[in-house]
Amino acid sequence: MKKILGMIASPRKLGNCEIIVKEISRQVEVPHELTLLRLPEFNIQPCKGCYHCLFKEKQCIQKDDFNLVLNAMLEADALILAVPTYFLGPNGSLKLFLDRGLAFYAHAEKLWGKPSVGVGIAGIPGKEGYTLLGIQSFLKIMMSDIKKITMMYGALPGEIFFNEQNKVLAAELGKSLFNATPSRDAHTCPLCGGDTFRFMGDNKVKCMLCSNSGTIAAETGSPVFSITPSEHELFLSREEAMKHFEWLCKMKGRFSEEKDRLKQISISYLSGGTWIKP
Ligand SMILES: Cc1cc2nc3c(=O)[nH]c(=O)nc-3n(C[C@H](O)[C@H](O)[C@H](O)COP(=O)(O)O)c2cc1C
Repeated sequence: MKKILGMIASPRKLGNCEIIVKEISRQVEVPHELTLLRLPEFNIQPCKGCYHCLFKEKQCIQKDDFNLVLNAMLEADALILAVPTYFLGPNGSLKLFLDRGLAFYAHAEKLWGKPSVGVGIAGIPGKEGYTLLGIQSFLKIMMSDIKKITMMYGALPGEIFFNEQNKVLAAELGKSLFNATPSRDAHTCPLCGGDTFRFMGDNKVKCMLCSNSGTIAAETGSPVFSITPSEHELFLSREEAMKHFEWLCKMKGRFSEEKDRLKQISISYLSGGTWIKP
């Protein structure tokens, strides 16, 4: 029996995100049990940027619900993620959790390649902004194997199924979860599958998911991307991810080496401005 974790990044109970996660689970053909969590209900504090999770016990020092959620992810065989669009991007609970993601590296063994699907839900067709990029970033940074992601539209709770096509999409997502990873669409980044690009002038582009640069050609009418990997690959391969982890771990040593030089810069900014405190 497989274990699927349904992660819902909406505070709304029985809203579109919850409904789509349950529908996708119903469409998974492999016998499984579904465990659910609503991300905004958990006490997830902002990352303190202290890097403690990279050293010693390789755990975050903050006492909140982060490990509860992380453990649920570790125990699952696969993940269904549904995220509502809030102001042209994914609901903030997703980013708040992702910001604690340096702690993922210590669990790369269990996280790498976990199958996942993701759905973004926006109230107004076409007004999702960077929601899908946020979902893709989350699923990639947590080292999962993204089988399929898509947007659906519906403002009122349940409205996504006014459109019957979304039932078909849910079935596709469900069936893809434990199947072979589909080949990439031609209009996506050939390295990572991202479909959001920054246009840098001339024919230069940069993929906003893997951060690699290259060129776009459109002689045949449809875009053809040539993208080159660079240093610091975060998730293109397990080896590269671990290389980045090792680089991060060396930061402590680099900090000690550069301490005096860094202090020279920061000390002159000790004063200035008046702080508003909570
Ligand atoms: C604070 C807030 C901001 C929103 N911003 C957007 C938006 O920028 N674009 C959009 O299409 N829908 C937006 N919506 C609509 C939601 O994405 C939509 O209602 C969705 O179905 C919510 O999912 P849920 O039912 O799982 O909560 C917003 C909703 C809220 C509450």
